Amino acid sequence: MRLPEPVLTTHVNEPFSYTLENYLKWGGYAAMKKALAMTPGQIIDEVKASGLRGRGGAGFPTGMKWSFVPKDIPKPKYLCVNADESEPGTFKDHVLMERNPHLLFEGCVIACRSIGAKTAYIYIRGEFYHVQKQMEAELQKAYAAGYLGRNICGTGEDCDIHIHRGAGAYEAGEESALLESLEGKRAQPRLRPPFPAVVGLYGSPTIINNVETICNVPPIIERGAAWFQGIGPEKNQGPKLFCVSGHVKRPGVFETSMDVTLRELIYDFCGGIRDGHELKAIIPGGSSTNVLTPASLDAQASFDGLVKAGSMLGSAAMMVMDETTDMVWLAENLTHFYKHESCGKCTPCREGSDWMHKILQKILRGEGAMKDLDLLLSIANNIGGKTLCPFGDAEIAPVVSTLQHFRAEYEHYIREGRSLVPRADWMPRTLVPAHAH
Ligand SMILES: Cc1cc2nc3c(=O)[nH]c(=O)nc-3n(C[C@H](O)[C@H](O)[C@H](O)COP(=O)(O)O)c2cc1C
Repeated sequence: MRLPEPVLTTHVNEPFSYTLENYLKWGGYAAMKKALAMTPGQIIDEVKASGLRGRGGAGFPTGMKWSFVPKDIPKPKYLCVNADESEPGTFKDHVLMERNPHLLFEGCVIACRSIGAKTAYIYIRGEFYHVQKQMEAELQKAYAAGYLGRNICGTGEDCDIHIHRGAGAYEAGEESALLESLEGKRAQPRLRPPFPAVVGLYGSPTIINNVETICNVPPIIERGAAWFQGIGPEKNQGPKLFCVSGHVKRPGVFETSMDVTLRELIYDFCGGIRDGHELKAIIPGGSSTNVLTPASLDAQASFDGLVKAGSMLGSAAMMVMDETTDMVWLAENLTHFYKHESCGKCTPCREGSDWMHKILQKILRGEGAMKDLDLLLSIANNIGGKTLCPFGDAEIAPVVSTLQHFRAEYEHYIREGRSLVPRADWMPRTLVPAHAH
């Protein structure tokens, strides 16, 4: 069934939707009270039965992840909410935190109870300063009203939430790098196993979940797993936020279910491509996911639907491009981002991103050779799957998928020394002149 009405974003367009007063008026914290009367096992079973899959990128089943936390270890357990949201094109968690923060706090208390944690950290993106300030003010109100802290609502349950702002690094959103950063170290990934559910923050069992994942927990507890299961396609259930940007008439964050197609998102939700232009390419799940062409318009925008189409749902950040977009420039621009953001720990990622970027710049300058295209693919092949974290797979997606679908544009640059795209000349470039190398 298609989601009939928004669940996570019901009130986000109303004034002061973020306040505790309004949240309580709209029935907030009822799910938490219900969950505190359940056993941890019952909460995990309900979340497992709902079929909720993580909204941070990989779509890992949330209930199953929670069940990996060992019960017999006499160490504290932690919940870390991944609010880093640094994937280019992604701006959905921002809306939830800015406009519905108590839903996240409520989800944290329920998740903490289920895994036996008394402390949750919300690791928020460095640039979200104003969101952090507003969230902290609301957090204090929740403490004062007895929804957080000691003996929550007289149930004997304790839970503290700390909001920690990062320093603005994309890699800090990778879960093990996030833990390093929280511990005061450089945001670089850890070797796994052991996985964070067993050895995580300060060596203790830790669950890391995306903001939207945790925000789905109160509605599951309140309305039941069967309600959640009934929304959207099998194995891809529940309300889902999509953030659409680029050459559409009405970009924004839209809440629907994962039976929606790319065509519906672009033409029904966003009003179609800007006047006088036509669709050329879609990045469906943030810059780390493969570019698709209009041939995939009828693909389901779900975890499984987009894998079938040759890409991924990722962070559900759809970037829509019309015929004025130069795809070689796109690859160069995104590779510049990955080169800049690579944490440098793994050689293939650190060196490979720089090599790919240099070759792409050479091609854009009109100095490329046909053999450079094979070289790009060979470098990508030596990065993908050969790094400690999936950053390596992410950084090759723009290069490999634009070469797959738009090779003619690369070849035109090499043969003619200029873009095949007629209106591309005005596009911003990150090109460094040849003499600067
Ligand atoms: C380079 C990189 C950046 C990431 N950034 C984020 C992020 O900003 N937010 C997020 O939730 N997950 C991010 N992830 C995915 C996390 O590692 C992790 O899978 C996720 O937080 C798990 O949450 P979930 O199970 O609720 O989806 C990133 C992964 C990589 C490799």
